[in-house]
Amino acid sequence: MTTIGFLHPGQMGVTLAATAGTKPDVLTIWAGIGRSAATAERARSAGLTDVGDCAALCEQADIVVSICPPAAATEVAEQVEGLGFDGIYVDANAISPATSKTIGAHFPRFVDGGVIGPPATTPGTTRMYLAGSDAAEVAAHWAGSALDVRAISDSAADGAASALKMAYAGWTKGSSALLLAVNALAEATGVTDALRAEWDLSQPGLTERSQRLAAAVSPKAWRFAGEMTEIADTMAEAGLPGDFHAGASELYQRMAEFKDGPQPLLDEVLGHILGDTVNHSVNHTVNHSVDDTVDHTR
Ligand SMILES: NC(=O)c1ccc[n+]([C@@H]2O[C@H](COP(=O)([O-])OP(=O)(O)OC[C@H]3O[C@@H](n4cnc5c(N)ncnc54)[C@H](OP(=O)(O)O)[C@@H]3O)[C@@H](O)[C@H]2O)c1
Repeated sequence: MTTIGFLHPGQMGVTLAATAGTKPDVLTIWAGIGRSAATAERARSAGLTDVGDCAALCEQADIVVSICPPAAATEVAEQVEGLGFDGIYVDANAISPATSKTIGAHFPRFVDGGVIGPPATTPGTTRMYLAGSDAAEVAAHWAGSALDVRAISDSAADGAASALKMAYAGWTKGSSALLLAVNALAEATGVTDALRAEWDLSQPGLTERSQRLAAAVSPKAWRFAGEMTEIADTMAEAGLPGDFHAGASELYQRMAEFKDGPQPLLDEVLGHILGDTVNHSVNHTVNHSVDDTVDHTR
């Protein structure tokens, strides 16, 4: 029997646990103390065993999987190291290779990881990439499950799995931020109606894509901010401009109030991105308060 501890069972983390937990030789555990009711409900419904606190989890687990907001990855690792954990530590968060390397230095057995795809409930949608001398051993615990786990390097030193995640999300989440940013620019300069008319002529579907994006991304934007900072750092470390993703991080921070809430309309999101600092009266068909001026969808 292999015991795998998950810190913590969020929307993605709980599916990592559920997919490992389908194997008869794997026990999945979590540490409920200090976590929210939403996390507790996810863990309960996925059949994880609550062992109480992190100390108990580290004592019982053969493998600890860190799957938390990227900005908290270092803190979680330091906590686990402080508890004397000597098994295999897997960091599956969206962090830069440099952050991964720093975290890896805390542990005698470390596996660098990165998850691509939505929460793993349907086979074929989601992959977890791993790098490290224990990567293949860890991957075996998910064999045949809905989560496709791939060992891509037998060394964690270069943070290959993290680098892959950074490159992948640099495009997906980076381009989402860029599309929201140009919507906000059009709004701030009073050309929203003209831009959408031009898009209909030359870039069909971009208005609808912007609306879908705003709805889908906003509740998670608070978490994306930290991930964009990690990507900006990764770019800079590779001698590339980090400013794209530093800007994306700021944009997502401005959307943080939508955390875990209902999906907002694009117009509400643009209002938050622009705040109160922009003069919306320029060339605009209707001239009113910030929150109202961005309403082009209703
Ligand atoms: N969701 C996705 O589609 C997706 C896709 C690819 C990769 N990922 C990666 O998976 C990781 C986790 O994503 P997720 O979707 O599971 O996130 P999530 O749903 O936001 O859950 C985060 C979990 O971490 C806990 N947490 C919140 N703040 C924390 C802190 N400061 N320190 C320690 N734990 C904290 C939360 O617990 P409480 O709320 O109970 O405090 C929750 O259980 C991220 O690195 C993300 O980049 C996610």
